[in-house]
Amino acid sequence: MRYSVIIPAAGSGSRMGAAIPKVFLRLSTVVGEPSIIQKTVEIFALDPECERVVVCVNREWRARFNDELQGVPKVVLVDGGETRQDSVRCGVEALISLVAEPLHAKSCVLVHDAARCCLPTDVVRRVVDGVYEHGAVTAAVTVPDALSIVTDGVVRSSVDRGNVWAIQTPQGFWLDELRLAHLAANADGFVALDDASIVARAREVRVVEGDRRNIKVTHPQDLAVAVQMCREG
Ligand code: CTP
Ligand code: MG
Repeated sequence: MRYSVIIPAAGSGSRMGAAIPKVFLRLSTVVGEPSIIQKTVEIFALDPECERVVVCVNREWRARFNDELQGVPKVVLVDGGETRQDSVRCGVEALISLVAEPLHAKSCVLVHDAARCCLPTDVVRRVVDGVYEHGAVTAAVTVPDALSIVTDGVVRSSVDRGNVWAIQTPQGFWLDELRLAHLAANADGFVALDDASIVARAREVRVVEGDRRNIKVTHPQDLAVAVQMCREG
């Protein structure tokens, strides 16, 4: 089952608070350990089913991305945008220009956060298979915590956990549907944190089983957790 992947990696990592974008942080102090971006890109570049890896980068850090990903097969760097949504849209347009015209409709594309470097490969398989079966899917996991609506620091009401899923990436779509959904969202001023929310305005997006190890490295404490998760994965 062939596919391409778009990896939004153009964020600054403000919540990480490091001097450099978080995707360049190493997963260990051991010399030779990969950076977050190297680890994430490698998951796809080494997958024989994956045809192209489009990495959306911050223009100011392009040289560093080039260094980090030098020699990695299938990689194409494209400039990202102000928000994650902008970056993915740039990636989609770049991918469209790389895929021959009649194949747009039948091209499976995954979108995966650069910051999720501990992604197990069986989740990739489930997402790709899910696209070929259902057309649009996202990895997701159930939420173990109790959930409440809180305003002004006060618990107002509880949320039925039975209907709540934590949405992960990869998310998978047909390329032309993802493109149209992004263009429509852009035209309407619809803003979302992920692509399933954007595509779900136009068609059903199904959930496939994600993985609790597939964390998004966001805060400083997540780095140590990621080292552990990647080891287990
Ligand atoms: N991303 C992107 N372009 C942006 C913003 C984010 O490609 N303008 C990417 C990030 O690089 C990351 C993914 O989207 O791989 C998920 O975003 P997030 O975890 O929020 O990363 P950052 O935006 O870098 O972090 P922060 O929000 O803490 O600044
Ligand atoms: Mg962000």
